[in-house]
Amino acid sequence: QRRDFNEYKKNLGNKAAEFVKSGMVIGLGTGSTVYYFVEALGKKVAKEKLDIVGITTSNKTKEHASSLNIPLKSLDEVDSIDLTIDGADEVSNDFHGIKGGGGALLFEKLVASNSKKTVWIIEDSKRVKALGKYPLPVEVVKYGSEKLFQKLEKRGYKPTWRLTDSGNNFLTDDDNYIIDLHLRRISSPHEFSRELIGLVGVVEHGLFLDTVDTVIVGSKGEIEIIDT
Ligand code: A5P
Repeated sequence: QRRDFNEYKKNLGNKAAEFVKSGMVIGLGTGSTVYYFVEALGKKVAKEKLDIVGITTSNKTKEHASSLNIPLKSLDEVDSIDLTIDGADEVSNDFHGIKGGGGALLFEKLVASNSKKTVWIIEDSKRVKALGKYPLPVEVVKYGSEKLFQKLEKRGYKPTWRLTDSGNNFLTDDDNYIIDLHLRRISSPHEFSRELIGLVGVVEHGLFLDTVDTVIVGSKGEIEIIDT
């Protein structure tokens, strides 16, 4: 069964790679679905001698892309990004999303907000009516984070620390902590986004609102392309 699961991710990755044309600056997301996109892109670059530059969203993707000889630059070295391909953890009917399940939300949001076009590749099961069932990641600076945690708890947002398998605080690529909020339902995502960003110590959160232009959805062997 696990094999099938990866098979649809592979199909999504291959489909996304078709969107990449020579001459483009490409944002490379993070996660197990994007993994297959990066694989497909690496093959395409080698086979078709594509002239592209990749902008990565995590150390993990950076290592993967450079192992496949995909030319890379950092965000500040390019004027803008033509197209970003990324995954998502939850996508609502009105095409807002929760991201950061892999902890890369900060760089993912930086890359997305500098992209002319953003495409998400997701399994059908990630589509929801309203966001919030998936825990919302909030990236916070370490200093004072216990106080921030308590504040979030008092507001009823059911925070938990993101931990590693060995029980230590998970560290993002920018060396911050992550607090996950177990909200069940976020009825006003824009308002909630402003509230979180307004808290001192919050670096970024995983609500990606008005971000995505196209969602490629994989379900039971079929692929659907939705322009938002
Ligand atoms: C990484 O921080 C996330 O935003 C990922 O894009 C998201 O978690 C999707 O990952 P999967 O493709 O592994 O489900």
